[in-house]
Amino acid sequence: MKIQCLTFAKRRRNAVIATGLIAILAGALTGILFAQGVRNDAKLLQEAQDAFKPLPQDAATTEYPVSPERVSLGRKLFFDPRISVDGVGSCVKCHPPALYGADGLAKSRGVNDKLMPRNAPTVLNVGLHFKIHWDGGRENVEGQAKMALLGIGFGNPDYATAMSRVRAIPGYTELFEKAFPGEANPVTEDNWGKAIGAYERTLITPSRFDEYLGGKAGTLSAQESRGLRTFLKTGCVQCHDGSGVGGGSFEKFGVVSEYWKETRSKEIDKGRFNITKDDADLYQFKVPSLRNVAMTAPYFHDGSVNSLHEAVRIMGKVQLGVDLTDRDVDEIVAFLGSLTGKLPENFATAPVLPPAPFDANRPASAK
Ligand code: HEC
Ligand code: HEC
Repeated sequence: MKIQCLTFAKRRRNAVIATGLIAILAGALTGILFAQGVRNDAKLLQEAQDAFKPLPQDAATTEYPVSPERVSLGRKLFFDPRISVDGVGSCVKCHPPALYGADGLAKSRGVNDKLMPRNAPTVLNVGLHFKIHWDGGRENVEGQAKMALLGIGFGNPDYATAMSRVRAIPGYTELFEKAFPGEANPVTEDNWGKAIGAYERTLITPSRFDEYLGGKAGTLSAQESRGLRTFLKTGCVQCHDGSGVGGGSFEKFGVVSEYWKETRSKEIDKGRFNITKDDADLYQFKVPSLRNVAMTAPYFHDGSVNSLHEAVRIMGKVQLGVDLTDRDVDEIVAFLGSLTGKLPENFATAPVLPPAPFDANRPASAK
């Protein structure tokens, strides 16, 4: 009985020692894994900081400042439908805040319901892009806004008609004078472009990803971090980099294989080739910024793909020759979700415009 008790006590003691040892080992292992995890997280952050940059406060330059008067005028013009030939076309019609500055259509509809040749990208953060339009056909947002007056979206036959529509609305002349002080005749198509451009240069949408880049720990979930890692490792970042996570270069769509086989595009768009007629530019498009991409379906220059998962899968395949697993795609899509920012306040609400009816009969020759 006594011996048995002793043996029992011994066994108990051994068991306690063993449990203790296991606990210490497990603790040490957890510690090692934790330290490893911290090192991996730090490495991931470092790689991300090398490839991307947080968004600046605005996209102003010395040549294109964002003075409050210009921005306020540009914001009104952006929302005004009365400068188009049908009194319906406006920047906001195809770039509405409720859809994050895109219109949700595969291809936009211009005046008198004319179909546009391409999908409308968002105007958010576009002031940071190195060129404007899918094929880079516009140098900057100012030039884009000016030329839009004569495109399918507004349908004006010439700038004189367009500016006569602006002048026909009492109130605008004074606002142009304030925005462009010292100019004898400030109501011009160039100033229309500069005012709208100044407004667009303020439409910047920092997101959780910017906090992450700033070093704030815990801003990305485990799944988003894995998505970021895959985005870097697979090579998406070769093209989608910088503060816009894109928007900084032209690249061929279909590096490894023809894009239309995957997107099932009905028409084949030659991209930048249409402008330069240089074979080297065949199927080259501006690499789109992936900021807010989760909010701006459908995808690609022709809106041929509805789901972001599918767009990511296609990118892996035709740009990198990689068959991403469903899990990889889910994780990348989760990471892309961290690029959704808050709508700027001066975009989320509508401005009050100078009151006046649309003048359908404004003659082309009116000054
Ligand atoms: C009828 C629809 C429509 C209207 C109206 C319209 N847009 Fe667009 N917008 C588009 C489409 C479609 C594209 C893509 C054109 C292309 O790349 O070939 C585009 C492209 C743009 C881009 C370039 C985006 C990028 O990523 O390169 C900007 C900036 C822009 N529009 C601003 C404006 C402004 C400012 C106005 C008003 C002056 C305006 N849009 C009026 C449909 C429209
Ligand atoms: C070789 C350059 C390149 C690489 C690598 C690349 N992309 Fe792209 N990406 C582009 C170009 C160019 C487009 C525009 C294609 C078009 O519509 O004409 C694009 C478009 C996209 C779009 C659609 C955006 C929109 O608004 O319509 C998404 C999403 C995207 N890429 C994600 C990715 C992901 C994720 C990867 C990695 C798996 C990746 N890209 C790799 C160049 C690249």
